[in-house]
Amino acid sequence: MSKVDFNPYSEAFCANPYPIYAALREQSPIFYNPEWDVTFVSTHEDVNALLVHKSLGRTLDHILDPAEVATRREQSKWHKLPNYQRYISRNLLETEGEDHARLRRLLVKGFTTAQIANQREGIQALADRALDELAARGEMDLLEDFVNPLTVHVIASLMGMPPEDHHLLRPWSAAIVRLYEKDATEQHAQDAEVATTEFVQYLENLLVQRRANPGDDLISVLVRVEDEGEMLKNDELVSTCILLLNAGHESTVNAAGNGMLALLRHAEQLEKLKANPQLASSAVEEIMRYDPPLQYFHRYVLQDMQYKGHSLAQGDTIGLLYGSANRDPQAFPDPDNFDICRTPNKHLAFGKGRHFCLGAPLARLELEIIFNTLLARLPAIRLAQQDQEYHPGLVFRGLKSLRLQW
Ligand code: HEM
Repeated sequence: MSKVDFNPYSEAFCANPYPIYAALREQSPIFYNPEWDVTFVSTHEDVNALLVHKSLGRTLDHILDPAEVATRREQSKWHKLPNYQRYISRNLLETEGEDHARLRRLLVKGFTTAQIANQREGIQALADRALDELAARGEMDLLEDFVNPLTVHVIASLMGMPPEDHHLLRPWSAAIVRLYEKDATEQHAQDAEVATTEFVQYLENLLVQRRANPGDDLISVLVRVEDEGEMLKNDELVSTCILLLNAGHESTVNAAGNGMLALLRHAEQLEKLKANPQLASSAVEEIMRYDPPLQYFHRYVLQDMQYKGHSLAQGDTIGLLYGSANRDPQAFPDPDNFDICRTPNKHLAFGKGRHFCLGAPLARLELEIIFNTLLARLPAIRLAQQDQEYHPGLVFRGLKSLRLQW
């Protein structure tokens, strides 16, 4: 049990989790929380080491016998959500072993760094067009008016969702990822199941069309990709498309909001970036370290193990506090200082190891374009109000809105 009052759904944590993380690192760097039934880990050294530890994984399914896997599914709190369990609880992120390696090999073929770099001009044109319209207004909510539509358009177009359907993505995605948080209610669970069911039906139809008439979109690529003669199975295709479409905008939106707020609260850093747009890639890394949009992921213990004097048994849940690791003074000198030129910057905002974020090149590219375009087109940009509210959450950290003026 921690000596620190660790309540991730409290108002204090929501407003600013970093002093609480600092206390955890100092007083209880590894602690078991009986209410969550999770062993939390908060230092950079430990999160970094456990992310690549061979005795930890996202699921035990690949090492248990199928009967036990079936029983565990029955006992899972999501067993009354058949589509959520079938398509969300078994996507790439929730897969280990050979299945994960095979799926990831197949996906990488449709998602190479070169293919993503080719998106630069298109994303820049989208950002410019959006700002052509917004500039005359003199104010906006950065998230709703600019970043949300932009990132949804980018990932949905990349995947091959027709533009008239893009509006469907946000509500489906929001309902599905709401279940990632521990405070999700029965109603959230039902909403997630409905959203998954609608999303699956939609994608099944789109897959039929893309098989008949392939285009140069990612869904058409994924339908065709092969790995040693093996193709993606239908369930894998659908769950992968949902994962990419959701992961493809949820965190990027929050990263843009958290990042713009950090820049606007650090005037000298803002001016430095404005004067040196080539610093955007290093600024994005600092933004990802300083206030990451994803702060927590879990792993399961695959086999009994000892770690720094803690006995961990097969099936135990380990909670990796990425947001805390990124502010650890042992890894980052003066960690609460926001410095867009920080180097080295070995933050863990995109994870590490087998599950390292597949979309990191796309997220980095979008964020660079978003910040540079905003500062170039709206040089007088400033906060319309000083106080900002974050959504409560341990997994996701993002602002409710970010009102700006120029
Ligand atoms: C700033 C934006 C983003 C952040 C902070 C982020 C962060 C992460 C993190 C931390 C993980 C690893 C989770 C773990 O350790 O268990 C992850 C995995 C993943 N991300 Fe991202 N992500 C972002 C954007 C994207 C985008 C744009 C896409 C897709 C287009 C994407 C697709 C994925 C996928 C498919 C995985 C699973 C990889 C696997 O399990 O092998 N992400 N992301």
